[in-house]
Amino acid sequence: MSDKPIGVFDSGIGGMTVLRELIEHLPHESFVYFGDTARLPYGNKSAETVQRFSRENVRLLLDRGVKMVVVACNTATAEALPGLQREFSLPIVGVIDPGVRAAVAATRNGHIGVIGTAGTIRSGAYQNGIREKRPDAHVIPLACPLFVPLVEEGWIDTPVTRLVVENYLSPFVGHTIDTLVLGCTHYPLLKPVIQATLGNDVVLVDSAIETAREVAVVLDEQGLAGKNGGSRFHIILSDTSPAFEDVAARFLGRRVPDVELVSVL
Ligand code: DGL
Repeated sequence: MSDKPIGVFDSGIGGMTVLRELIEHLPHESFVYFGDTARLPYGNKSAETVQRFSRENVRLLLDRGVKMVVVACNTATAEALPGLQREFSLPIVGVIDPGVRAAVAATRNGHIGVIGTAGTIRSGAYQNGIREKRPDAHVIPLACPLFVPLVEEGWIDTPVTRLVVENYLSPFVGHTIDTLVLGCTHYPLLKPVIQATLGNDVVLVDSAIETAREVAVVLDEQGLAGKNGGSRFHIILSDTSPAFEDVAARFLGRRVPDVELVSVL
């Protein structure tokens, strides 16, 4: 069992920011990554649709013989994780609990901003998670739907990007938040622009590293940790585009190997 790969899925290739940390932190594991690029974005779809897609993604990974699943998508974690954990018997870990833990550890004054897709913010998953761990927290949620297409387009640090980021984040400027949760797979790539907009006193929390730590704990607890050299990864997508290689390399921090295409519709 321990030699089997870990399955990772996202609505697209943004979850490669999580895959990157998993590869870095778990050198004895190998991975199968599924990016549902044909049906991206999940962030503006109904909870029912995101739940159905997420179930299908777990089944696809199960067919590849994975020993556990990482939901490397904030929207899918927010709207589908509890249902997935009830339905499937293998361990399934999402990105929100790790992000919540990191935010609560980082804040000094308890004033925490959370940004994400419309679905993630609507679900209240981050807001509830933070208040559960720190009941006196003052949480300010904000959906930033234009950030995902900007990053997908590779517009990471253009004048337009800066303008859009400044516009969305204006409710936080001059506010007392000392921590901002980047509650979406794509937002870590916008860190420099977000940091420049909010200033260096605000800690930006990205859940990828904390998620990799949680996966390591679960593998140990369940006796599933790989023992041999791993770090192999196989990428499966439901669609691809001419810009794919460039954008994916930004997320993954290295050239993306050959991709397998599957049909999900
Ligand atoms: N992966 C999604 C998330 O982290 C962002 C892209 C989408 O909307 O599907 O919320």
